[in-house]
Amino acid sequence: MSELIRFGVSIESHLLDQFDRLIEDKNYATRSEAIRDLIRNELVRQEWQDDEAEAVGTVTIIYDHHVRDLSSLLTSVQHDFHEQIISTLHVHLDPHNCLEVLAVQGKTRIIRQIADTLISIKGVKHGRLVMTTKGEKV
Ligand code: NI
Repeated sequence: MSELIRFGVSIESHLLDQFDRLIEDKNYATRSEAIRDLIRNELVRQEWQDDEAEAVGTVTIIYDHHVRDLSSLLTSVQHDFHEQIISTLHVHLDPHNCLEVLAVQGKTRIIRQIADTLISIKGVKHGRLVMTTKGEKV
């Protein structure tokens, strides 16, 4: 961990009030930790803007496995990207619905392609790509 530095921030009182309510809702112990997380989130967002950057994330999808050919299509897409999909969790939520969480690692451009491909398949009810980082820069 690098050296901690203190710095002053000038901010309008109403904005600080809103910030304090926000961080209380999110259970932050201090403003400092909340500000650090905001900065880290922005740095991760910036990392993901570079199409060729190496990144990690998860793709979560919910689908009805009774939809014709859907399960085999999803599996086929996952095999096409076996180099980037490093682990998969499958949960049979109820008699119809499956939850799948894919851990992905690779170039941001390809990870986005995997998420877009899976989420847009007919029968996938909801999906979300979570872009995160190994934290080498943050
Ligand atoms: Ni299932």
